[in-house]
Amino acid sequence: MTTAQGTSASARPPVLVGMLGLGVVGSGVAQTLNEQRERLAEQAGCPVVLHRVVVRDLSKPRTPAVAHGQLTDDTAAVLDDPAIAVVIELMGGEEPALSYIKRALGAGKHVITANKEVMAKHGPELAALAAERGLALHYEASVGGGIPLIAPFRQSLLANRISALHAIINGTTNYMLTRMAKEGVEFSPVLAEAQRLGYAEPDPSYDVEGTDAAFKLAILAGLAFHTRVAPEQVYREGITKLSARDFRYARELGYAIKLLAIAKRANGAVEVRVHPAFIAEDRLLGQVDGVFNAVEVDGDLTGRIMFYGRGAGSLPTTSAVVADLIEVAQALGHGGRPRPAVAGDAGLPIQPMDEVVTRYYARMTLRDQPGVLAQIAQALGDLQISIASVIQKESDSAAQVAEIVLMTHLAREDSMQAALARVRLLPGVVDIGAVIRVED
Ligand code: NAP
Ligand code: HSE
Repeated sequence: MTTAQGTSASARPPVLVGMLGLGVVGSGVAQTLNEQRERLAEQAGCPVVLHRVVVRDLSKPRTPAVAHGQLTDDTAAVLDDPAIAVVIELMGGEEPALSYIKRALGAGKHVITANKEVMAKHGPELAALAAERGLALHYEASVGGGIPLIAPFRQSLLANRISALHAIINGTTNYMLTRMAKEGVEFSPVLAEAQRLGYAEPDPSYDVEGTDAAFKLAILAGLAFHTRVAPEQVYREGITKLSARDFRYARELGYAIKLLAIAKRANGAVEVRVHPAFIAEDRLLGQVDGVFNAVEVDGDLTGRIMFYGRGAGSLPTTSAVVADLIEVAQALGHGGRPRPAVAGDAGLPIQPMDEVVTRYYARMTLRDQPGVLAQIAQALGDLQISIASVIQKESDSAAQVAEIVLMTHLAREDSMQAALARVRLLPGVVDIGAVIRVED
């Protein structure tokens, strides 16, 4: 191919790339870079060559796409090689990935990473380091796998004042919840299946406890609301306490249960939370199933828009990593500088979870005797919580207990928690089986 300036892309000096990690994502990236050299050179305007790949264990069997000479277990072979212009970090985890990224930036290398933990915890610090040196720090793959999200927030949506984000940003849990809801599969076997498919984090508690989604929400909310959101400021609940009954009752009420990541502008602050939530089955987000992710954005100019696609897996994530690389190579191939990292913004404060206002679903087992419901209504009413509906689901006449499902109108989180503490103490209440927020 010949460029507009008349120079063949393959005749230009190559951009040499060093990669840290050759696991689920790294294998896809290596395969793409090695097998699609010509197409990538055309897109970048110069050859893009995977020069070295660092792994932990050289004796592991590897995909045939990676030539043995490319592999090393010596990080310095990438970080200290002046010929390498771009480092792709695909190891995961906070350390040593963070130190390696800093070292790469310190050595004047552009960095591409899929590491949401590092970007959520240290993104502003790394962006400042990169910006100081005029280097690119790209992280499209850190949120939403193959769905373009970081670039749209950094660019295409900038004209908007964003009021809310509602997102499904963990593929593992969405895959699990879908199979649990639709096929009644149990938690453990479906988690094992998500691990086998390469969706889960090395420590899958990061997925099922909502940690991974909290990292991603911290990154997205920071970009959307031009503020700094630390992962520990994101309220977080995972999916481990959900029961088959709740999926059934949700469906009867016209809802799906999803692990939602929510960020909203409220009272001059931003609320940021990750938790299972009821969401109407007829809303697009309620229909996002399997490993698919979706991010719904409410902008003042765009109105509601939605990004949707595969949020995990080798090739979708490869798409995001390689796109970042092409962008950097395009600039370098033309003797220019890639778009530098944007250092942190001034920011909105984070709203405490206690002040969040939402609706609630509660499932309780009660003694089947007169007056119990009235006591519950009183306990909630004392804290200004109004009941929208109560449905008796099942009763066990031998044990003289009945299960009810109660839906509230909008209520403050601190009021709801205080009311539940009182309800738990009522003599007619045997158990509060589940409390799930409802996102209308
Ligand atoms: P993975 O399969 O566990 O692969 C990790 C790779 O890093 C392995 O090749 C491993 O070497 C290497 N490695 C780990 N620690 C190392 C160390 N200290 N020194 C040298 N090499 C080291 O992970 P992955 O699923 O590809 O994920 C990589 C990154 O992408 C993570 O940040 C993850 O959160 C992110 N991500 C993953 C997905 C996905 O669907 N999997 C999607 C989006 C983003 P060995 O092979 O020798 O063990
Ligand atoms: N474990 C993550 C998920 C990988 O399931 O979404 C993609 O970031």
